[in-house]
Amino acid sequence: MSVRRIVSLVRTRWPRLILGACAGLLASACSVALLATAAWLVARAAQRPSIIVLSVAVVSVRAFALGRAIFRYVERLVTHDVTLQVLSDLRVAIFRRLERLAPTGLPVFRNGDLLARLVSDVEAVQDVFLRALLPWVTGVLVALLSAAGVLLVLHSAGTVLVAVTLLVAVVVPRFTRRWSHRAEAGALEARGQLSEDVVDTFERLPELVAYGAVERRLAGLADTERRLLRHLDSAARIRGTGAAAVTLATGAAVWCALVLGVPAVRTGSLSAVLLAVVVLVPLALAEVFASLALAAGELTRGAGAAGRVVDVLDTPDPVAEPGRPSQMPAAPYDVFVAGLWARWPGQEDDALCGVDLDLPAGRRCAIVGESGSGKTTLAMALLRFLDPGAGRVTLAGVDTRELDSDAVRQVVGLLAQDAHIFDSTVWENVRLARPTATRSEVRAALGKARLLDWVDSLHDGLDTWVGEHGDRMSGGERQRLALARVLLADFPVVVLDEPVEHLDQRTADTLLTDLLGATRDRTVLAITHRLQGYEDFDEIVVLQDGRVAERGTHQELMRIDGRYRASYQQELATSRRQIA
Ligand SMILES: Nc1ncnc2c1ncn2[C@@H]1O[C@H](COP(=O)(O)OP(=O)(O)OP(=O)(O)O)[C@@H](O)[C@H]1O
Ligand SMILES: [Mg+2]
Repeated sequence: MSVRRIVSLVRTRWPRLILGACAGLLASACSVALLATAAWLVARAAQRPSIIVLSVAVVSVRAFALGRAIFRYVERLVTHDVTLQVLSDLRVAIFRRLERLAPTGLPVFRNGDLLARLVSDVEAVQDVFLRALLPWVTGVLVALLSAAGVLLVLHSAGTVLVAVTLLVAVVVPRFTRRWSHRAEAGALEARGQLSEDVVDTFERLPELVAYGAVERRLAGLADTERRLLRHLDSAARIRGTGAAAVTLATGAAVWCALVLGVPAVRTGSLSAVLLAVVVLVPLALAEVFASLALAAGELTRGAGAAGRVVDVLDTPDPVAEPGRPSQMPAAPYDVFVAGLWARWPGQEDDALCGVDLDLPAGRRCAIVGESGSGKTTLAMALLRFLDPGAGRVTLAGVDTRELDSDAVRQVVGLLAQDAHIFDSTVWENVRLARPTATRSEVRAALGKARLLDWVDSLHDGLDTWVGEHGDRMSGGERQRLALARVLLADFPVVVLDEPVEHLDQRTADTLLTDLLGATRDRTVLAITHRLQGYEDFDEIVVLQDGRVAERGTHQELMRIDGRYRASYQQELATSRRQIA
């Protein structure tokens, strides 16, 4: 099923695949014809006929020998070329899918496992074309054509050859597939797990070392590897048994040809010269039969991998894109959230239950609340990473479900808690937001994010390499770099999701002041645990269990005896204690 999906997915490559198959067919046909003609030539030459009788066969042997090499070369060239194209088609298709799924639809897959799907599974699927489907089709055709030739010469030997072809092409693969199915599936699963564990181990190495858990982790990895090897071993054993059965069947076909041919020569219904042909054709087919056995093994392996690739391709969209997206309206971009209910994929409970929010252009609103109260979920809904279950989000009066989600994200930008910094230069990291930006625009954005002095103090300035995940920068510098990115992208609406969360108090305070200063002229939705610093915001919304518990300005909320006032006073007392 999955293989069929993949085959139809690469429809545009069919003509080249068929061309490759034709070349392969001709190469194999030449190879069988070469041996058959050579057999006839040797046997006939033994009778010392005139050279004229042999000349056609001599020329044919040369032609088949040359043809075999040339067609095989063309086949290799065409099929390898086209399978590389298939490989890139599949990788692009998966990547596009991942782009659609990220970030909210991805958690169904584990990172490393996803990597295995993208790399080794796609390669295994590519082998389905190169090593399974093409050799199988050409092999069966050549075997049947050869059998038809033998049928004309000696009916019984031809029938045996047809039977052996069916045995080798259909019966043996069916059994090997059935027996090796579980081992192949287990191997794929174990490989995914191994890849996942290796990636995870590398990512979490500092913690593992700190807690002395490296040995245990390595033992776990070794266990998974042993499981993988066990599965690979039993799959290889079954494949080997299949290959042995094929070799046996080929040998049996040669013996049958002899046993049936010799009496036919005795009775005079077959010439002695043709006996050589009848006996040698099954031998010539040995290579073809062997490739059929290999093809069956590759198909089983490839089918499992194709299933895992198709799983990714078929994962439902976390958000439904409109068939015909509406035109993005012009500024001002008022954001309006009405009765919003939202739920994460695969979850039973709603993370937001009827939230309203009025965010006209230029307004600044803070969302506060305990961990798990639904703050990030609200941000995800505004960025259209998550569709409302009920209620709606409008942007400049248009329901965001009618807009292309990428278009929404060109207006609404996110500055998250730990923005990803790429292992590249400062310049590339900032320019990511707007690839057409000039160096002076990037510098201006860095200036507004108050990072320009730091950049200028670096040896290579803008071209300084920042290390993996921005390892060579402090947490505050990383957040400022991310802010520069947001400023360069020039989003009219900015969502700040706990942008100063992991920083020490002093750095957090100055960064927050700079952050709010730099985004003063935009619509801002600031999500925060800390309450200080947002006192002059137009509205503060307190979320609790996905519902709005309190809302109003700082002054209004301080007048009522609620959660906000209690938390604010507690926070104030803590920070006073720290200063004292
Ligand atoms: N990717 C996800 N998949 C499934 N459920 C999620 C996901 N992210 C959040 N949730 C669930 O949605 C609910 C709200 O989570 P959310 O992340 O919005 O809270 P939050 O207020 O941002 O918390 P925090 O302050 O800890 O960041 C929680 O019950 C959480 O378990
Ligand atoms: Mg959150």
